[in-house]
Amino acid sequence: MFEPEGLHKSETWVPEKIPADKPSAARIYDHLLGGYHNFACDRAVVQQLLVQYPDLKETAQMNRAFLRRAVNYLIDQGIDQFLDLGSGIPTVGNVHQLAQEATPTARVVYVDIDPIAVAHSKTILEDNQYAAAIRADVRDTNNILAHPDLKRLLDFTKPIGLMLVGMLHYLIDDDEAFSTVNTLKDTISRGSFISISHPAHEATPENIDEIHKTFKSAQDFNIRSRVQIEQFFSGYQLIPPGLVFAPLWRPESKTDVGMDNPEKSFTLAGMGKKI
Ligand SMILES: C[S@@+](CC[C@H](N)C(=O)[O-])C[C@H]1O[C@@H](n2cnc3c(N)ncnc32)[C@H](O)[C@@H]1O
Repeated sequence: MFEPEGLHKSETWVPEKIPADKPSAARIYDHLLGGYHNFACDRAVVQQLLVQYPDLKETAQMNRAFLRRAVNYLIDQGIDQFLDLGSGIPTVGNVHQLAQEATPTARVVYVDIDPIAVAHSKTILEDNQYAAAIRADVRDTNNILAHPDLKRLLDFTKPIGLMLVGMLHYLIDDDEAFSTVNTLKDTISRGSFISISHPAHEATPENIDEIHKTFKSAQDFNIRSRVQIEQFFSGYQLIPPGLVFAPLWRPESKTDVGMDNPEKSFTLAGMGKKI
């Protein structure tokens, strides 16, 4: 195990020689959510981002809360297998925890490009025969769909919950983003669902260019319009309430995070069903 400078004491979770001075989107998000799988360089970016946008921790929580509500909705619809793409570093309320609490044999495959996200996922899934983590670029759909762990765990002839939460904006090329989503949508069976949250132009703060510049040191991203985000669901039936600011997607209570100011999520969220 390699331990870059700036790690919290007693952390021996770094799987390989990872540059200690190159921030990562997964670790920035982890730090925003209060996790410990991040380096000093990630925390420095977060510090700068919080100066530029003081509510960013709540923004991350709003996205994570959408993921949780979406998974719970899917469980209620009888979905017992999930493909979570751009799954991030495991934190509270991971998809397999929610799904397997409802159905102990529910199957979950996580995919992320970040080595720490995948190494940590593998560690917590070591004894879990119904879940696996794969390191891959989401755009590499053919290899992901052919992966032995995915083939072992997921049955594509039956409905699947496809999660693309807080990740499609990292596919900066529009054609690549749409063709990736279309391939996945074509692969899953009728009765499957796709859940997406995505930063949207209509909700970005005035100083978005400044924020973008800071975040780019980790990973570039592409904010899209409502029309473009809707296009990811084309051919699918949008589940009510449709594409809305993340906190407004089937909130559980008036006091849920972001309910007082949903635009602060930056993010539109929705779920579509293949019918
Ligand atoms: C903001 S986090 C979202 C995590 C989780 N889906 C959630 O909503 O809580 C975005 C994740 O997407 C991953 N990611 C970015 N680009 C990716 C790509 N091309 N392929 C796979 N994962 C990617 C990052 O590593 C990061 O873990």
